[in-house]
Parts: sequence; C-alpha cells; structure tokens
Amino acid sequence: MAKLKYERPIIKRLESNMPNKFGMRTEFEPITHLDGVAVSELVAQYGSPLFVLSERKIRNTFQAARQSFESRYPRVQFAWSYKTNYLSAVCNVFHQEGSWAEVVSGFEYDKAIKNGVDGAHIIFNGPDKSEEDLRKATTNNSLIHIDHLDELYMLQDIARETKQRPKVAIRVNMDTGIYPMWDRFGFNYENGQAWDALNKIMFGGQMDLVGLHTHIGTFMLSPNAYAIAASKLANLAQRVQQKYNHEVKYIDMGGGFPSRNTLKGAYLPGIDTNPTIDDFAEAITSALMNSEYRPKTPPLLILETGRALIDEAGSLISTVIANKRLSDGRRSTILDAGVNILFTSFWYDHKITPAQEFTSYTEDTVLYGPLCMNIDVLRENISMPLLNKGDKAVVHHVGAYNMTQWMQFITLRPKVVLIDMDGKSHIIRNNETIESIQNHEETPDHLVHFEL
Ligand SMILES: Cc1ncc(COP(=O)(O)O)c(C=O)c1O
Repeated sequence: MAKLKYERPIIKRLESNMPNKFGMRTEFEPITHLDGVAVSELVAQYGSPLFVLSERKIRNTFQAARQSFESRYPRVQFAWSYKTNYLSAVCNVFHQEGSWAEVVSGFEYDKAIKNGVDGAHIIFNGPDKSEEDLRKATTNNSLIHIDHLDELYMLQDIARETKQRPKVAIRVNMDTGIYPMWDRFGFNYENGQAWDALNKIMFGGQMDLVGLHTHIGTFMLSPNAYAIAASKLANLAQRVQQKYNHEVKYIDMGGGFPSRNTLKGAYLPGIDTNPTIDDFAEAITSALMNSEYRPKTPPLLILETGRALIDEAGSLISTVIANKRLSDGRRSTILDAGVNILFTSFWYDHKITPAQEFTSYTEDTVLYGPLCMNIDVLRENISMPLLNKGDKAVVHHVGAYNMTQWMQFITLRPKVVLIDMDGKSHIIRNNETIESIQNHEETPDHLVHFEL
C-alpha cells in the first residue's frame, strides 16, 4: 500500500455545512477524468495549464437546445456566434450539427468562409463593417444586419453602384424591462428609429428586407424579456406587411441565454437557479405564435445562442504552484492559470475542483493565478481541501468567451485540446512560444545591439 501523504492538521471553526435549498453540497467531488480521459494523462501529454473541450458535450447541448425550440415551433435555425468561441474545430462541430455562422467583424466573416460556410448562411452583425466587408457580404448573398444609418446609406450606395440587392435585416434595440438597456446597437423600437430605418429600406427599394434582429443582452435571467422582444419584432414585421405588403422572412432573437455558471454575488448556484433553454424557448415561441403577424409561412426563428451552448463543454486544467498564508491567516493557493486566459473569472464564481483524491478537511482559500498582478484572482473565497504543489485542479464551464477574449500577457497562451466522440484527444490550438510571439515584432537596426 502506498504511504499516505502527511497533511498538516488545522484548527478551524466548526461550520454546520448545512445543505442548501437543493441538497448537500457537491462542489468538492474530485473530477479525475474529463470525458473518460485522466486529467493527469492530459497534462502529461499536453502540459499545464490546458483547455479541454468535449465534443460530446457540445453536440449533446446543441441537440437538446434545438429540440427545445423545434418541439415548440415549426421553423428554427441556429447560427453559431463566432465570437463566443471561434476555434475552427469548435465552429465546425456546430456547422456539422446544422448551425449557420453569426459573425461580427470582417475577420470573423473571413473565418466562417475559410471554415467552408457558404455566404448565404452567414449572418453579419456588428457596428464595424467596412465598405469592403459590405461589398463582399452583398456579393456572397449573406444576411447583413444593419446597425446604424451610416451603414444603411453605405449599403444603399453599394447596391446602386453594383446593381446587386443586399439581403438585409435591421438590428432593433428595445425596452424589455431589463436595465441598463442595451441600446447602443441597432435602432430603437420605442422612439421610432427602427420603424424609420425600415421605411428607409422599403422606400429606397434597393435592398431586400428579409429579417428583423435583436440581441437584448447576455446572461439574461428573464425569459419574459425575450417574450417582450419577440412581440415587438413581430409587431414591426406586421406593420411592414400592412404598409408594404411585404413579408419579413425571419425573426432573429440573437443570443443571451445564461449558461449554468454562477454569477458573482448570486445567492444560489447558477446550476440550480438559472432558467433553462426550455424556459426561453417557451417564452419566445409563444410570443411569436400569439402575435398578430401572420405571413403565408411562419417566419424562420433564428437563434444566435453562444455561451449557453459551449460553456459547459469547456474545462481548464491547472496545476498548483504553491500554497502560502496571507497576512490575515487565510490560506492561498497559487495555480498556473491566470485571469489573462480566464477572463470569465471576473464575472463568475467558477466551480473549481481538485483532480485527485483528497482528505475531508476543507478550508476557505483564495485561489490566485501565476501573474505578478494583484488582480489575478480566480476565486476570492472557495472552500477547498488542501492542494499540494503539483496537484491538479479543474475549472469547469469555461468554454465560452475565454478562448477568444484571452490575452497573451506575462505568460504564453496554452494548448487547447478537443476530446472527440471516441474519447480521443486532438490539439485544436497549439500553445504560443517565444518564437510565435516574436514573429509579430520588428526591431529597427539601430535597436538590435546594446552594451550593458
Ligand atoms: C449579436 C450577437 N449575437 C449573439 C451573441 C451571443 O450571445 P450569448 O453568448 O450571450 O448567447 C452576441 C454576444 O454578445 C451578440 O452580440
């Protein structure tokens, strides 16, 4: 039998560890395997820290979300929100499942094309579309969601000049009872801007108005806000139908459903309390069917869901660098993954579990990353068993936004691997190296040499 490791005893205040409203706490079960692959093996093969994505989880989550909507409404289409995670392997899992692409920049647009998405299945959102982007999207028959009047006029000029008819929708912002309102994108519903933009498009006669779009926020906790948004878009569609005898072909409700993470400051864990996709599907589809908009065929319902489809499929494996006591006596543990690769630790109290067996002692701990920066805190306070130097921990539900918003800062960005449906792991993004960083730099001749 292997010799047991000595663990220094601690004296701590007795806490009742009361079960919460939903039962006993389960936060501390060790997670030793991800999709059947040992965490220790993954680290041995690919290094630490390491992002791991589960193809099975992505597909299962997507299929469940599609089922939620398709069982309630006849015509549903998902479009993968590239900014949420645009690693090509991830995008292509969604495309294999039937998702279109939803992009918000020329770079993301080109990435979707390179991934093999045909232009007609790309939704182009965002406030920053260059003239070149708009020309390309027009020629490719992409769905261009106009954000402001300057873009509308530029697109009208392109249409006039090229004699092509861009396929357009407008982005609509509105009061859904959630504040602060996201009113910086698109045209406002209540003050008449949206109706004005629609009239400009219809009177202009040079573009095909095919849809209406809104994206009311992100990590939204109110399905009712979506019901209000869907009713308002349906109302606009009905007014267009009445005035111009023109049918809007799709209603795009954007993204914004929460994942199962826990927002900082939330009283109860997100996994128990956040509304489910079913709740949102019920709110949106009921609002659409109960509206007065009655085209010959029901409008296609488009969803640009991001984080709710990918967060749970992502994990971040990290290794303990050291433990130390803070001046007030609290235990702190330093991990090798910092906020530069885990942006979402500013918003969530991430679930973090040890990746090996541990004793039953837990202690309130501050979890730090490796950066020489005070803000590098992964969890301000988490009750953890003692992790020793070299032990592994897994940060859960990190698939959304981290692999796009991460930055190269102090440390190099790590590898990302995908575990496929057969439990085989594949590198889908390599780690950075000093060379890959230096490749982007130029040193003028007079700064190459120095003497100290
Ligand atoms: C236009 C648009 N659609 C979809 C999304 C995806 O949102 P989420 O990840 O909250 O589902 C975003 C994200 O901000 C967005 O701006």
